[in-house]
Amino acid sequence: MMARASNPLLDLDARPVIAHRGASAAAPENTLAAFELAAGQGADALELDVRLSADGAAVVIHDPTLDRTTDGKGPVRAQTLVDLRLLDAGAGFSPDGGATFPHRGQGLRVPTLGEVLWAFPRMPVLIEVKEPEAQEAVRRVLVQEGVVERCVVASEHPAALEAFREPPFASAASGPEISHLYWNVLLRRRVAAPRYDLLSVPLRHRGVPVPTRRFVAAAHGFGCPVHVWTINEPATARRLWARGVAGVVTNLPGVIRKARDD
Ligand code: G3P
Ligand code: CA
Repeated sequence: MMARASNPLLDLDARPVIAHRGASAAAPENTLAAFELAAGQGADALELDVRLSADGAAVVIHDPTLDRTTDGKGPVRAQTLVDLRLLDAGAGFSPDGGATFPHRGQGLRVPTLGEVLWAFPRMPVLIEVKEPEAQEAVRRVLVQEGVVERCVVASEHPAALEAFREPPFASAASGPEISHLYWNVLLRRRVAAPRYDLLSVPLRHRGVPVPTRRFVAAAHGFGCPVHVWTINEPATARRLWARGVAGVVTNLPGVIRKARDD
């Protein structure tokens, strides 16, 4: 089992390349195929999204509905795990703007969280809990699979993170916590020690840059690395690393890995 201290997602000095929904520019997002491709391209960690099935399973899918990525329709929460497993998770992916759909009918499924963690036994994973109701199922999987130390749990929703605020779990800042730090840094106000272990932030919010040098320095003052999404341009990644950003969340892990290592 990976010790928490050696999880590159939590290391201020590491520059992990984090595959956003897997290598999702080249394979259907949040599928085992996308995660395998990311690992093959040298990603240091995986990012994935978790929702609940109707019968309480933690399943890996981004949208609240099935329509965009699968051949199903309607809410994910309306389907049992057995029914979700019948869907084609490669149905919505097209590498050429809808001209072709090369992954249709290839047997790609909506994976469970446990299945991904089991398939990549040494890979650090940034788990985004998309709905607060899913947090208990996520916590159960992490404990049962014995993978707590290599995972960090993130969510926009503070209520989705309550189960992950104390060791041995590690959590990312929620949306309101990111805003709180951002505004206090801007106004040069002191901020109390946070309950999160890292910040995973957008490059810009409503057109305004989020990971400024002062924002990153403030995070470092708490021992929290800053990760930025979703970065597919090597030049942007280099600029972020130069200002102290640690992780780069990308749809193109091979490209960003090369930019880091060259
Ligand atoms: O962690 C947030 C990042 O994954 C970007 O959000 O919409 O792609 O889940 P989204
Ligand atoms: Ca996500």
